Amino acid sequence: MTASGTSWLMMSVLFAATANGAGSIGQRIDGFTLKDSLGTAHSLSDWKDRKAVAVIFLGTECPLAKQYGSKLAELSRRYKSKGVEFVGIDSNQQDSLAAITHFGRVNHIEFPILKDAANQVADKFDAARTPEAFVLDASGTIRYRGKIDDQFGVGYARPSASRHFLADALDDVLAAKAVRTATVAAIGCRIGRVNRHAEKGSVTYSNQIARIVQSRCVECHRAGQIAPFTLTSFKDVSAWAENMMEVIDNQRMPPWNADPKYGEFSNDSRVPAAEKQLIAEWIENGCPEGDRSQLPPPVTFAEGWRIPKPDLIVKMPKAFKIPATGIVDYQYFIVDPGLKHDVWVKAAEGKPGNRSIVHHMVLSYMPPGQKEPDPTDPLLKAVASSGPGIPALITPEGYARRIPAGSKLVFQMHYTPNGTEQTDQSEAGLVFADPTTVKKEMQIGAVINFQFVLPPGFDNVLCTAEDKFEKDTLLYALIPHMHLRGKSFRFVAAYPNGKTEILLDVPKYDFNWQNIFQLSKARLMPKGSVLRCIAHFDNSENNLVNPDPSKFVHFGEQTFDEMMVGMYYYALADQNLTLSKPVEKKSDRRAVQGVRPASAIGSGRSVLSAPVVGRVAAHGS
Ligand code: HEC
Repeated sequence: MTASGTSWLMMSVLFAATANGAGSIGQRIDGFTLKDSLGTAHSLSDWKDRKAVAVIFLGTECPLAKQYGSKLAELSRRYKSKGVEFVGIDSNQQDSLAAITHFGRVNHIEFPILKDAANQVADKFDAARTPEAFVLDASGTIRYRGKIDDQFGVGYARPSASRHFLADALDDVLAAKAVRTATVAAIGCRIGRVNRHAEKGSVTYSNQIARIVQSRCVECHRAGQIAPFTLTSFKDVSAWAENMMEVIDNQRMPPWNADPKYGEFSNDSRVPAAEKQLIAEWIENGCPEGDRSQLPPPVTFAEGWRIPKPDLIVKMPKAFKIPATGIVDYQYFIVDPGLKHDVWVKAAEGKPGNRSIVHHMVLSYMPPGQKEPDPTDPLLKAVASSGPGIPALITPEGYARRIPAGSKLVFQMHYTPNGTEQTDQSEAGLVFADPTTVKKEMQIGAVINFQFVLPPGFDNVLCTAEDKFEKDTLLYALIPHMHLRGKSFRFVAAYPNGKTEILLDVPKYDFNWQNIFQLSKARLMPKGSVLRCIAHFDNSENNLVNPDPSKFVHFGEQTFDEMMVGMYYYALADQNLTLSKPVEKKSDRRAVQGVRPASAIGSGRSVLSAPVVGRVAAHGS
């Protein structure tokens, strides 16, 4: 975590102020009474005959609290017969009673979840995050506080937990023993406190903060989009204020993982320092709302599509059923759009039918003659995609992607089961360019290493691959692609004049946020330039998302296999299709870049030097 910067300091001071010794181990909770979401009051004293009470702070929109919902339901059932009562506390202003009822229902939670509207109970326990668990013994004394277990964390989910902190603490209290680990720092979303909204300072929600949030966050944090909660009103934003500062400070949000030292990207989503400062000041002053007449007009988004109205919408032929649990292999659905002639795509977007289980989707084309989808099609023949952090494709004026006449379209779907059985029928929209206006074909190339081996337990395996440009080429976007063991990825250009330059550096690769890095200015790679990709993989158990640190890992398309692919969008610098008949000439041009079969790596004359295949670097970095 990079907990640096003045705003972070300010926040620490702010939170320290609430720590008044409450909630520490050994402290006795003298009682509380709150109502559940249906209006029934519950008091701590109701459970005085119990051997222990597990008090869990929850939030209905917090990703981590959601992941633990069904697990808590299960734990509470397991411990009920042993004399333990579970009680949930929701101290978030933004969580409605209906949302709390819903949270309990979908997770099959039988214990009461109480609304702590004034944060009184959160203050009594000095609870800071959701989920955070407290174990009270029969006398009401706090014997444990912290995490539930180590299965889920921010940005990772292990197949199972290896440390069961809450269950261990309950077992120890039931056995009248000292709790073996009494405190484990909780992780998750901060519980915002309600006692603020002072009208202090000049930075208010209405005059400044709403604008920042609209331009940086609302694209995803609005109804029906991928983020788990909305940030579209004063109530939302002030309730999430502390979390906002935290995720902006350690650069989790907006999702952007490139090192700012290298390259300039038109879709760089980082919050500029000046805006961060305003947010910090606003929170320090108690999140004043200000004069509502100064609010910016709400931003509007095209209903449904982020691209202009599609000329062609293709849909999966039928709905697919996703089981409640387990791993679902990538699914392929083939559609024949009946294309009588080549089409030129200038904008495209994948639209998941069910965002709760579609991790990502790619629509690619399969030219006539090709019988089945190839594993690299979703990379190199992609036309539309959707996934966390992936923007819709919108090409510059005069550029388009070509789909040859007679092609079939293939949906590649990656589903992640979410605990209940689901169905999905996704679609994609394509906007066509007038072919007479297309100057350049926007193509996708890739530098790929097919031959690496990641030995089990190694935490810093170097893998490289490179490709040489045989014609003057313009680069538009760079897309590192690895799976869960991916650790870092770098694109380097080596020019014929001997100079080298880092085009993009992603020091902490995150499978969940596979951005497309759109270069602010197209980069000319003169004939003879080499594009070199340098990646590191972590196949050790320290990598919290590693599906299995005991396996040798090779190239493969499932997420438990690996990939080392440096994709790029490009066009040929001297191409002007409006001057010539486009279609025939292109096949030889297209052969210049693109995938090189494994057998050709290192032997093709266009490769400068053999790529290092799966070389094991020293442990550590
Ligand atoms: C590209 C889409 C996108 C943008 C832009 C975005 N978010 Fe998010 N945000 C998400 C998603 C998806 C999650 C859920 C992550 C998860 O499930 O772990 C999330 C989670 C969060 C969380 C809670 C989870 C955590 O990691 O603690 C906070 C707080 C948050 N976002 C704040 C913001 C703020 C503030 C902004 C703008 C400055 C922003 N987000 C911009 C998609 C986005």
